[in-house]
Amino acid sequence: MGYLKSIGTVIIYIGLFLAVITFLPGLPPDAEYSEYSIKLPSDTQLQFELKNRLQGAEVLFSEEVKGPECFASYNGELYTGIRGGYVVKIEENRIKPIVKFGQKCDGLWQEEKCGRPLGLKFNDKGELFVADAYYGIFKMNVNTRHYVNIVNSSEPIDGKVPKLVNFLDIAKNGDIYWTDSSTDFRIHLIYNIFFYIYKLIRYNAATKHNEVLVRNLGFANGILLSDDESFVIVLECLTSRIIKYNLKGPRAGQHEVFAEALPGLPDNVHSDGQGGFLVSLVLYVDSQHPFLPQSLIPHPYLRKMLSRLLYLIEVPFKLLQDNSKEIKNDNSKEIKRDNPAKSEASKKSNEAIVKPKSDDAIKKGAQNTQSAKSKPVEKKEDSSKK
Ligand SMILES: *[C@@H]1O[C@H](CO)[C@@H](O)[C@H](O)[C@H]1NC(C)=O
Repeated sequence: MGYLKSIGTVIIYIGLFLAVITFLPGLPPDAEYSEYSIKLPSDTQLQFELKNRLQGAEVLFSEEVKGPECFASYNGELYTGIRGGYVVKIEENRIKPIVKFGQKCDGLWQEEKCGRPLGLKFNDKGELFVADAYYGIFKMNVNTRHYVNIVNSSEPIDGKVPKLVNFLDIAKNGDIYWTDSSTDFRIHLIYNIFFYIYKLIRYNAATKHNEVLVRNLGFANGILLSDDESFVIVLECLTSRIIKYNLKGPRAGQHEVFAEALPGLPDNVHSDGQGGFLVSLVLYVDSQHPFLPQSLIPHPYLRKMLSRLLYLIEVPFKLLQDNSKEIKNDNSKEIKRDNPAKSEASKKSNEAIVKPKSDDAIKKGAQNTQSAKSKPVEKKEDSSKK
């Protein structure tokens, strides 16, 4: 009896606790949890004839290139963005870092500092536009590596700063259509799967002003203008559908569902060159293989509870991480400053290009200069880059 009673008490306390975190106003993460109804991926096998063409594909640079999210090509040159913050050029047998918009960082876990180029697109003139999740949108010349910031992600749009600049496409007049999410959590998918607050935004090249075109999208991801620029499509990853926003015609300024119940989570889109769209699905989904977060879509309170719970669980870890970061920073200031290319993911990509100037040389330099300035290390690094 005593057992049952205490189990009952525990359950009541847990219930109360969950109710409090669900309904107490103002708790982070600060987000809207609107109700959605979507058509879920269903009997895909019946709708589509599945082919396994990609299974024979050749995997290139699997060790060097971490997390390429999107590709852009111009004049036969291929570029992508990788974890660690670099935009890289993919050559026949090597990966060449071109630019990084973020700061020096100690590792991939510092992604917000490193930066994370997600969307890449060339305009007609061969200028590369890059959407960096944390730093905004940049226009660059891939030959001179000179770049300018076009959308600064520290500037609010409609009262909220963009926190996950995702993909973009460039219109002929220079306008940029891009997708963003504004939540307390940046790229951590685990939280983002609970929200439907992604936006389609247009950067007006003439006025340099950003305008939100569509709100409350379920993880807006890839984006593409139609060939005649009469509409733009936005892939909604979480809801397995594609939204069409009309730019011309009688429905200009309105959006509608373009395709739904796709057999998976749409991520990226390219033109097939014939007016059609090639859509990549990041995960296969059908009624036999459901994607759990999709079942939460009709339950905003459940999503709210889960994301707040996750937040509470994460807080102590975050504090720990911040503390150890400080300690680490104190110890390794010298090495870090003089050794930018050695940290983060670029390490890998550099290894692919040149024989690295060996870790020994770098360690030696660091030892020699534990407390003094370590200029020599800097030089060594530079020469190894060439
Ligand atoms: C964005 O603006 C802030 C504040 O004005 C500035 O510190 C930052 O360097 C800018 N970011 C970029 C990428 O230019």
